[in-house]
Amino acid sequence: MMIKTADFLCSNTEYKKCPDANKPEYAFIGRSNVGKSSLVNALCNKKGLAKTSSKPGKTQLINHFLIDKTWYLVDLPGYGFAKASKTMREKWGKNTEKYLKNRPNLSCIFVLIDSRLEPQLIDLEFTDWLVNNDLPFVLVYTKTDKLGANLAQKQVSEFKKRVADHWSDFPDVFLTSAETKFGIEPIAAFIQDLNKDYQVPELEY
Ligand code: GTP
Ligand code: MG
Repeated sequence: MMIKTADFLCSNTEYKKCPDANKPEYAFIGRSNVGKSSLVNALCNKKGLAKTSSKPGKTQLINHFLIDKTWYLVDLPGYGFAKASKTMREKWGKNTEKYLKNRPNLSCIFVLIDSRLEPQLIDLEFTDWLVNNDLPFVLVYTKTDKLGANLAQKQVSEFKKRVADHWSDFPDVFLTSAETKFGIEPIAAFIQDLNKDYQVPELEY
């Protein structure tokens, strides 16, 4: 699938202010600096669409992008940003948590994982939380250009081992690089498939 148009729509602190939930939505989340905004840009083939930075903590709001006028892509703030104050961290965490739990059109959450690192406690805890809340997600390993897809695959196996005793299924996994565009097309195809099955959710007023 080729994305034809990608437009920034709005930034919000909380889910209640987000655009009408009338289109399928996909959110990118993961540790600060893991490459969420870079992946949004790679997928849309549009540099500068989502703001990126070498310093962690760049994205601080729920950012909606309208893709091909038919679906939403959402760039979320990262978790585990050490420099943020505790209250700030708690507030982002709460807002993000509420967004993930209450957005009725959220078709899939893309959890980004740095392919260079051993499974991180914060990623294990966050994905456990998704499983416990029955939220649909996949894992996206980022920055594979730095160490190669084989080592990334090893990290996937390590992650599997860590959850094997308490997850009944393991989600789909994508290996990617925003730098080389490796693994971007499979994500686009995956989204296109989900879009085909999408049904507008019943909204509560
Ligand atoms: P926050 O908004 O702070 O949570 O970060 P983020 O997850 O949105 O990360 P961002 O996309 O801003 O990227 C962080 C840094 O990693 C930047 O310096 C990017 O250039 C770099 N980066 C992102 N993706 C890749 C990749 O695939 N390969 C390489 N080599 N660098 C990457
Ligand atoms: Mg970002």
